[in-house]
This record gives sequence, C-alpha cells and structure tokens, in this order.
Amino acid sequence: MTKFPKDFFWGGATAANQYEGGWNEGGKGPTVADYLTAGNRKQVRKYKNPIDPNQIYPSHKASDFYHRYKEDIKLMAELGLKMYRMSISWARIFPNGDDEKPNQEGLDFYRDVFQELKKYNIEPLVTLSHYELPFNLAEKYDGWVNRKLIDFYVSYSETVIKEYHGLVKYWLTFNEINSVTLPTGGYFNAGIMSIANGEGFGPEEYPKETPVEVSKRFTALHNQFLASAKTVKMAHDFDSDLQIGCMIGGLTSYPLTPHPDDMLLFQKQLNNQLFFCADVHNYGEYPYYMERYFKENEIIITKVSGDDEILKDGCVDFVTFSYYSTGCLTTNDDVDKTKGNLVFGAKNPYLETSEWGWQIDPKGIRYFLNEFYRRYRKPIIISENGLGAIDTLEEDGKVHDPYRIDYMKQHIEQMGEAIEDGVELIGYTPWGIIDITSMSTGEMLKRYGVVYVDAHDDGTGSFNRYKKDSFDWYRNVIKHNGSATSL
Ligand code: BG6
Repeated sequence: MTKFPKDFFWGGATAANQYEGGWNEGGKGPTVADYLTAGNRKQVRKYKNPIDPNQIYPSHKASDFYHRYKEDIKLMAELGLKMYRMSISWARIFPNGDDEKPNQEGLDFYRDVFQELKKYNIEPLVTLSHYELPFNLAEKYDGWVNRKLIDFYVSYSETVIKEYHGLVKYWLTFNEINSVTLPTGGYFNAGIMSIANGEGFGPEEYPKETPVEVSKRFTALHNQFLASAKTVKMAHDFDSDLQIGCMIGGLTSYPLTPHPDDMLLFQKQLNNQLFFCADVHNYGEYPYYMERYFKENEIIITKVSGDDEILKDGCVDFVTFSYYSTGCLTTNDDVDKTKGNLVFGAKNPYLETSEWGWQIDPKGIRYFLNEFYRRYRKPIIISENGLGAIDTLEEDGKVHDPYRIDYMKQHIEQMGEAIEDGVELIGYTPWGIIDITSMSTGEMLKRYGVVYVDAHDDGTGSFNRYKKDSFDWYRNVIKHNGSATSL
C-alpha cells in the first residue's frame, strides 16, 4: 500500500554553482559564487576577488558534473529517478549577463545534458537562477537593485526556454527568492555589491543595515518578482503547456511558547519571511501585511507604473519549497539558539540536531505542506530536503549512512501523511543527490547525497563516484512508489 500517486516525481536536486564546476571552461563567465572561498563550521566563507591561488573556491571544480554528466545521469537512471532538479548557470549562457548573443558552447552543454536525461525518461526541473548571478551584473549594475537586470534576465530565460522546448517542461524562476528578505541574500542571491560582500551566513555575522540598505534589498526583490512574472507570461504565450513554478526557502518556524507575544511574532515572521514571496508569485500582488512592515522599517521600494499589471499577469503554475529543519520564535532573548543557513531562532527542546546543529523535524514537513497548500491550492514539489552529514568511504568502496536513510524515511512518511491530508504533493527532489559542496560553509565534508563523490575540502580526491547504502534504499523506495514496506 502506498500513499503516493502513480506518477509521483521521485527525484533528486543539485545546483550548478555547487555541482557543475568547469567554472572558466566552455566560455562561461564568473558568477557571484565563484569569488567565495571555502569555510567550515567555525570559519565563514570569504569574498576574495581577484582569485587568490592559495585559497579553495568550491564552485570552481565542485563535483565536476561538467565533465562527468553522462556517468552521473546514468547513476540517476539506475537509481530510478523520475525527476532531476538542476540549475542552468546563467553565465554559461550569457557570460557577462548583458551580452547581446548567447554562448553557443554553453547552449550545447545543457542540450547534451537534457538529451541524456530524456534518454532515461528523467524529467528535468530547471532552476533559472540558483545563487549564481553573472558577476559582471553584480559589479557593473549593483545586481538586482538595477531594473536593467529584469530585461537581461528575461532575455536569458526566453533564450533557454525556447532553446530547450521539447526537452524541458518544468521551470523554476528563482531559487529561494525569499532569501532576499534576509541580509544574507544581498550578495548570494541579489548580487548587491554596495551593501553586501557575501561573507558569513548567519544573523550574527551581519551588521545592522540602514533603512536605505534594506530598501535596496527589497527593491532588488521587487525586480526579481517582475522578472519572474515576465518569464511566466513569456513562457505561457510561447507554449501554454509549459509549467513555471516558484521556489521558496523553508524559513519554517514555530512559536517557542503559547505566550501571545510569541504567537504574534510567529505569525509576523512566517508572513514576512516565508509566505510574502510565495503570495506575490501566486496572487500577483503584494500582500496586505507587508505594508506595515515596510512602513515600520522605513523601506521604500522603487516601483514604476505598470508593475502591478506585470505581477498580475505572471502567476506561477506550481509551488516548491526547500525544507530541512525548523526553528522557534520568541520575544525572550535569553534562550539557546539553533543553527541553520536560513532557519534561525530558539532551540526546540523536542528536536534533535544534525552534526551542523540544524534541528531535525520530519513532522514539520507535513505541517508546512498543509500550510502552503491551504494558501495556494496548486501542485507542490518539495524541491530540497536532506541531511548534511559526514560520511566515511570504507576501503571496500562502501559508505554506510543509516542516519541519512532514517532522515529520508521519516520525511517521506510525513509527506505521505500530508498526501492523505489532501495536499496535492506531486514530487520530491532531495538535495545534493550526488554529493555537492555546501552553500553556507563551502565544505565538501558536509554531504547530502546517496552517491559519494571522492572529493575533499583541501581540493584533493579522485572525484570518483560510490553508491552509499542510501542509494539502494532510495532505489527500492522509488521502485515501490514509497509503499510502507519499502520505507
Ligand atoms: C538551500 C540552498 O538553502 O540549502 C542550497 O538552496 C543549499 O543551495 C542547501 O546547498 C543546503 O544548505 P548547505 O548550506 O548545507 O549547503
């Protein structure tokens, strides 16, 4: 007996800047990710430009998908994947972001990738922008603050959506667009050089911003909303069967206590950080509750007339979000804090944590799936989920990762519950299905995959691939469509 629908998209996910490598090959230009050095749990990543030969830049080689995509896609097929979420690196198509013509070598590379996927009947789900803005757009235009980026992005999205027509049906406009509501998103996501330099990935690492700086972030976000909406419209005008979705970062939290102040804080934060962007993508307008937030924080968004109509005309077809953990919210400052890359806040006394201090909360995925579905009533995909952990490659080439199997099992069970609740969940693409570098720390040590990549933080390794125990386990789950006995 399974709770999952017949055509459920069992999948896996990666992003170019963390997986692809080949950072200066095939005519690709540098991206904002290419100037970030590796860090670890104690040392934040640094923005270092020009390239320092004594530093490791994780995106430069990453897991070397650029040279090994055939081997990797074959492994994905063996695993039985029905969907593969990946991103196109914009700078591989338009090396400077503002070029007149696309880079043919870049177009050819992704065509080969998509054809290879088609060979195995694996449906691609393609993110157009996953923390990999062409660096020139950050340096020359100050990133997404500048409205010119809307046209550059739409020219890029139109190029690839039309180029790969017949090969790619499902698209996501921006990865974790709501990360721009946080100071961390200023560089990673929006490429705003005038306010952020990409260092650090936690609230404690960021100095308090002035209202002018925060206004820049929210103006950048507004421009991304417009770029997304224009892309949706362009794609639908071109072929109404194309499915364009949004991707929301799981900034998922609970109130720490039933104190009414904690409840109000919880409601406010969920609105402002989790649902705000999803509301704009799905309803085509800014939600009422942001008015007060903008006013109280002196946020002024630069808009022009006609923007409202553009947003209305570009609502997405489906919803996706990443989900790793939950935090707790309280007005009391004197509490233990939890760790994460997007989820912060107070520790939940009922949850265990990963080796990186992220709280593990399988039941939360059911709760938030219901919350998203209740609001938007559109098909949902969990576009990222997984456990970042340290794995050991044994001498016999085996990797025993029962902790990862346990994590995935519990989350899949709760997704099944959500389906029984009535949520239209159509897919699950767990993160870093083949090991990739971490975004927040830049480490290779932190692994999510069911396939081990023999690569290490100091840049050494054969880059050979090894199946972990979780590979066989997940393959069996897929084969039996998530039946209770396969879990
Ligand atoms: C998501 C990002 O927020 O979290 C990914 O979309 C990222 O790019 C993932 O890799 C896991 O975070 P981390 O920091 O462990 O790599």
